[in-house]
Amino acid sequence: MSITGRDASFGEASLRGARLAVEEINARGGVLGRPLELVVEDNRSIAGESATAAKKLITRDRVVALVGECSSARTLEAAPVAQAAGIPLVSPASTNPKVTQVGDAIFRVCFIDPFQGDVLAAFARRKLGLKRAALLVDSSSPYSVGLAEFFTKTFTAQGGEIVAAQKYTGADTDFRAQLTAIRAARPDAVFLPGYYVAAGLVAKQAKELGLKATLLGGDGFEAPQLLGIGGEALEGAYYSTHFAPENTDRVSAEFVAAYSRRHGEVPNGLSALSYDAVRLVADGIERAGTTEKRDLRQALAATKDFPGASGRTTINPQRDAEKEAAIITVRGGKLTFVETVRP
Ligand code: PHE
Repeated sequence: MSITGRDASFGEASLRGARLAVEEINARGGVLGRPLELVVEDNRSIAGESATAAKKLITRDRVVALVGECSSARTLEAAPVAQAAGIPLVSPASTNPKVTQVGDAIFRVCFIDPFQGDVLAAFARRKLGLKRAALLVDSSSPYSVGLAEFFTKTFTAQGGEIVAAQKYTGADTDFRAQLTAIRAARPDAVFLPGYYVAAGLVAKQAKELGLKATLLGGDGFEAPQLLGIGGEALEGAYYSTHFAPENTDRVSAEFVAAYSRRHGEVPNGLSALSYDAVRLVADGIERAGTTEKRDLRQALAATKDFPGASGRTTINPQRDAEKEAAIITVRGGKLTFVETVRP
């Protein structure tokens, strides 16, 4: 996970969720009568580090399963290593379709971007009545490129128009040139399939440039730091994500309560998904009756209706999960739940 570096919020949230799961499992006696041990590797949000981390964990630490990464780009680095070794990898939150296509050892507990892009575009068209959208895409990120493509498909099929398309890359902090070009196209929406640092900065710089379009994003916006970076400029922005702490389902509510007691704040989607990914691995080991990799892969593939904090989880034949998406908006300086959308 990206415990430090640009995307540290993702790693930190994931780690908190994963740790809570391990502690709960061990308090109940562990798995197959043995305690579960969490071994953590930090890729520092740096490209190339996730493959090295996966190799270390598999050969040096002899882990029985990998949980991670969050970003699709970094899971796509680690996945071929896991696949070659036959060690199951469960991504909590990587949504690009290519991730699980790497092979039969790669799983995820979240929805995928064809769904997320469709949800966002339909919401923008039908609920918000937005018609002219501009895209601002991180061309170095498969997540960003993919989500832009899936959004465009539904948005244009439902009578919307893409009036501008601009690019940036991962660590960029100055978006003024792209936003000036976008402003000239007079969009009523700017779709930014990026992560929270870019999201906050884009919101700020768009406001400075007098660009009034509604800012739309995906799950990459989700971070407690988002509001701190974008401030007031985020007012009226919308994004989709995996989890709403308002959920009253028993497993979700217990998770929210346990997490809040520990950390003094409610968990986000990444914490919930990582909590679920660890519990899914433990459940797979229990059902397999062994940590042997082939049996564990088969058990994970057969996961049905697992009661997760992020919702009931069934691993489908593509080794993906199908889950509801939540739409969040910024209202009065607060993240505000709008609605959930079923697959
Ligand atoms: N879905 C993003 C990706 O695939 C990662 C992400 C998930 C970021 C959830 C934030 C919250 O790259």
